[in-house]
Amino acid sequence: MRFRTLDDIDLAGRRVLVRVDLNVPVENGVVTDTTRIARILPTLRDIEAKGGMPVLLSHFGRPKGQEVPAMSLAQVLPALQEAVGRPVAFCPETDPEAVRARTLALKPGEILLLENTRFYPGEEKNDPALARSFASWGDVFCNDAFSAAHRAHASIVGVAQILPACAGRLMEAELRALEAALEDPARPLVAVVGGAKVSTKLALLGNLIGRVDRLVIGGGMANTFLAAQGVDVGRSLCEHDLADTAREIMAQAAARGCELLLPVDAVVAEELRPHARAQVVDIGHVPRDMMILDAGPRSVVAIERAFEAARTLVWNGPLGAFEVEPFNAATDAAALKAASLTEAGRLVSVAGGGDTVAALNRSGAAARFSYVSTAGGAFLEWLEGKTLPGVAVLMQQG
Ligand code: 3PG
Repeated sequence: MRFRTLDDIDLAGRRVLVRVDLNVPVENGVVTDTTRIARILPTLRDIEAKGGMPVLLSHFGRPKGQEVPAMSLAQVLPALQEAVGRPVAFCPETDPEAVRARTLALKPGEILLLENTRFYPGEEKNDPALARSFASWGDVFCNDAFSAAHRAHASIVGVAQILPACAGRLMEAELRALEAALEDPARPLVAVVGGAKVSTKLALLGNLIGRVDRLVIGGGMANTFLAAQGVDVGRSLCEHDLADTAREIMAQAAARGCELLLPVDAVVAEELRPHARAQVVDIGHVPRDMMILDAGPRSVVAIERAFEAARTLVWNGPLGAFEVEPFNAATDAAALKAASLTEAGRLVSVAGGGDTVAALNRSGAAARFSYVSTAGGAFLEWLEGKTLPGVAVLMQQG
């Protein structure tokens, strides 16, 4: 994969328009998770070290082209300033000429945060006129928002076709990690795909089956596969209408030499609530009035063996209803195993997408993985084998 980085463009004395992803969780006006902010700091540091002046461009929420005060990036400013360690200027203007004037007045040592890109009606349509306005706010474009690269928006694609464009440090790290995991991995390559529903992960499963050596299927979606094999899953979450699709996926996996690992036992309970009375049963013996809420201990041993035999692991989605104790046990145990193997230098482990990071954070395993992506939807689309427009446009200039 070839694309330009901050090392390939002269930044001295230039306004560097940086597309970041400050779409962070906020509660009562306070940022509750600063991971995405912390991960853009190397880019800001390197731009400044090369004499550039960062102008930050991001979306926040989904205001759909309207100026919605509750979705102003002003509320992210305090957390950004704290991470950077000094004041960051904020431009609340959305008149393109006024913003341009503000960027032209920037001095070395200043960082400027602009207002939500999705306040502009043309952003999500990749409107060429808006892309030209964005381009007038910088001399160079740097995309450091892998987690938004699946959106063909003006601040991601349009502007990159006008200004000299490069990847920021976080974008570089995300692309290198995903390339190592999926494009040219050390084998055997094992993937864990979990989560509630098969229906949201059909494209992903279809792509992974052709690439990985073993595929662990966990979470509620495993029930659909078990039911498709004729197993009684009791009152478990299950998409019975997808039985044919599940059987087709299993047949394709067999034809392509991909071994599927489904649970052999399960933790079941009558209801999903903290510390509900739970019991372990073999698959095939799930009581009619109970639901599968986690993989059982024998299943965890099988997963751990698969990890021990693997050299690369890609993980998306939990193995059970991890938000509610004790149904986090299988996810935690498997994640900690992957973390130990990673630390021992025996496994390259990459995780990302949706609530995966939250699931792996609980046990402290995420911090010990080789790489944890900041991306939700973009990570999933990558696993589906799709070309992300924000990445493709960088490669055109590579
Ligand atoms: C995300 O949080 O996954 C990205 O910021 C993309 O947000 P979106 O789904 O609203 O485009």
